[in-house]
Amino acid sequence: MKVLMVCLGNICRSPLAESILKTKVNSTIVVESAGTSGLHSGELPDIRSIEIAKKNYIDITNQRSRKFTLNDFEDFDLIYVMDKSNYENVTKLSTNKEELSKVKIILNECYPDENLDVPDPYYGGEQGFTTVFNMLDDACEVIASKINI
Ligand code: 4NP
Repeated sequence: MKVLMVCLGNICRSPLAESILKTKVNSTIVVESAGTSGLHSGELPDIRSIEIAKKNYIDITNQRSRKFTLNDFEDFDLIYVMDKSNYENVTKLSTNKEELSKVKIILNECYPDENLDVPDPYYGGEQGFTTVFNMLDDACEVIASKINI
């Protein structure tokens, strides 16, 4: 089972989603992350994501931002996006129903069919990163309960 977490920059939300899910699943499950923009390719996660992860005993400094690619539709079984804008950006690249069906809005795991956004914390303060961490922790708990063997 391979799971991809996707946001816009792959420096704030999806690196947290990747590492949080990794703490909850067994080692046979591969978890990665990517961004729909290549704006921050090669960069470390945002310092505020590094700090909120550290506060929760998770080290995300091994991660580097990369852009979502068409190959990801083939490589991954599940593609979780953080918000509706990510959903549009990813699904418009899909070329068939199978690819489309892999793409899911992550908070629908907690609030089915509500299509709620994990808010983009980039332009806000540190509190936004705490909120994002807690939302992702809840969603990843549900995901892990479904995919863990
Ligand atoms: P992310 O946050 O999508 O959660 O990684 C953002 C990071 C960078 C930018 C926007 C959102 N940016 O505009 O550079």
